[in-house]
Amino acid sequence: MKAPTTLIIDDEPLIRLSMVDALKAVGYDVRAAATGQEGLQILNTNAIDMLITDLRLPGMDGLEILHLCKQRSPRTEVIMITAHGSVDTAVEAMKRGAYDYVTKPFSMDELLLIVDRVARVLALRQENLLLREELEDKFSFQGILGKNDRMREVLEKIKLVAATDSTVLILGESGTGKELVANAIHRNSPRRDEALIKVSCAALPESLLEAELFGHEKGAFTGALRQKRGRFELAHRGTLFLDEIGEISPIVQVKLLRVLQERQFERVGGTETIEVDVRLVCATQKDLKKEVQQGRFREDLFYRLNVVPVRLPPLRERREDILVIAEHVLQTRAARMNKTLKGFSHGAQELLFRYSFPGNVRELENMVERAVALGRQQEEVQVWQLCGFSACPYLGGAPQEACGFCSEGLTGKRDRGEASSSLAAARDQFERQFIQSVLGRVHGNRTEASRILGMSRKALWEKCKRLGVSSGRTEHDEG
Ligand SMILES: Nc1ncnc2c1ncn2[C@@H]1O[C@H](COP(=O)(O)OP(=O)(O)OP(=O)(O)O)[C@@H](O)[C@H]1O
Ligand SMILES: [Mg+2]
Repeated sequence: MKAPTTLIIDDEPLIRLSMVDALKAVGYDVRAAATGQEGLQILNTNAIDMLITDLRLPGMDGLEILHLCKQRSPRTEVIMITAHGSVDTAVEAMKRGAYDYVTKPFSMDELLLIVDRVARVLALRQENLLLREELEDKFSFQGILGKNDRMREVLEKIKLVAATDSTVLILGESGTGKELVANAIHRNSPRRDEALIKVSCAALPESLLEAELFGHEKGAFTGALRQKRGRFELAHRGTLFLDEIGEISPIVQVKLLRVLQERQFERVGGTETIEVDVRLVCATQKDLKKEVQQGRFREDLFYRLNVVPVRLPPLRERREDILVIAEHVLQTRAARMNKTLKGFSHGAQELLFRYSFPGNVRELENMVERAVALGRQQEEVQVWQLCGFSACPYLGGAPQEACGFCSEGLTGKRDRGEASSSLAAARDQFERQFIQSVLGRVHGNRTEASRILGMSRKALWEKCKRLGVSSGRTEHDEG
């Protein structure tokens, strides 16, 4: 790894120059400034890994520089130079986030020792970052995160289907990432440079939806003052994403079927036949098969749409993804809000793991976003910051009815703040990991897993349900 880029701020020219020379001699890339102002300008325009600053400076002092540096560039490590006998200030500087300090007068060897230590920390961090990126590559695609087996299958499927023109039907509860998947498919398809047009079929009444999709001629209905092209025409050569397809009326269903069969349609009130080249991606929260059985959705249309189904599992059935997504959201939102947070406390992790997330990933995102807003610099995210109730049972308050955690009775079962220290919780944690690893080894085959674990299939299934482990393939799949 390359030597860290270092900035030295000291108003005494002799000391400043000696430090610059000493660091340059061992291969560091060094900048120098005589005042805080000058130093901050360099910090603003350069990526500085390490900052060495004198505490006592004319104008802005070292503590102030430390504060501004941590705000602007939280990853920069700071070494403070303090005067002999000002240990208190040095300790204060460390409390405020300085990595280390050196007391004047110091030898260059002394300084190099500290600098070398910081360099090693930076190198380790860089290594971790690379490792994490590698992991993310494996468990994510176009912003869709997921290390759960079913999610990885979904990601693989998306990659494959994106390259084709096949119609895709995305199924999943609210907030499971259906739109995210539609975006990913378009962006990875040969049509990526053309338009991706989105229509929410639930948002418009039947008559308007028809005109919206297929366009209308002038005077086709009251208010149709001029001819208008529909979304199918706008999506020509590109992709059309029909969200909440389960909501469309029988008339629109017929018209849609015809476009799918013949690639042709007429605008509302028109006679001219229009041909389009559109790739269709649809999504729904509804069980379309059931809609067909109950006569609300045309069977022929269902088969036309269901060419490649992509089923997104709810978050509660892929609990191993909760923390992965939560950590990712924490990092991105914190960076946006200029905060450095140290991940989630044990209690917070435990709660995230146990909560059922009826609103799926969207609910998780909102929760973490709130936690970032309420979180304190350089601290871990606490339970009450996730739920947003300052009178949380975790803080000794009464259960809050409006709080998802409280209403599920999760908090009441545990001591405040010590969610994972009880024997039962530790045992659950162990069992969860153990079962997950066995299921992983046998590729989700439950019969095989229950044999290895020495328990009946039913007992395993019940345990998986209680622990929130996705319990492998269904009987049908095992065939
Ligand atoms: N696997 C995932 N990894 C990361 N972020 C995700 C994932 N799934 C969903 N999200 C995020 O969750 C939010 C909701 O996703 P999206 O809007 O795609 O859900 P949806 O299924 O279309 O929901 P709805 O049915 O309510 O329209 C978005 O901000 C999205 O970026
Ligand atoms: Mg959606």
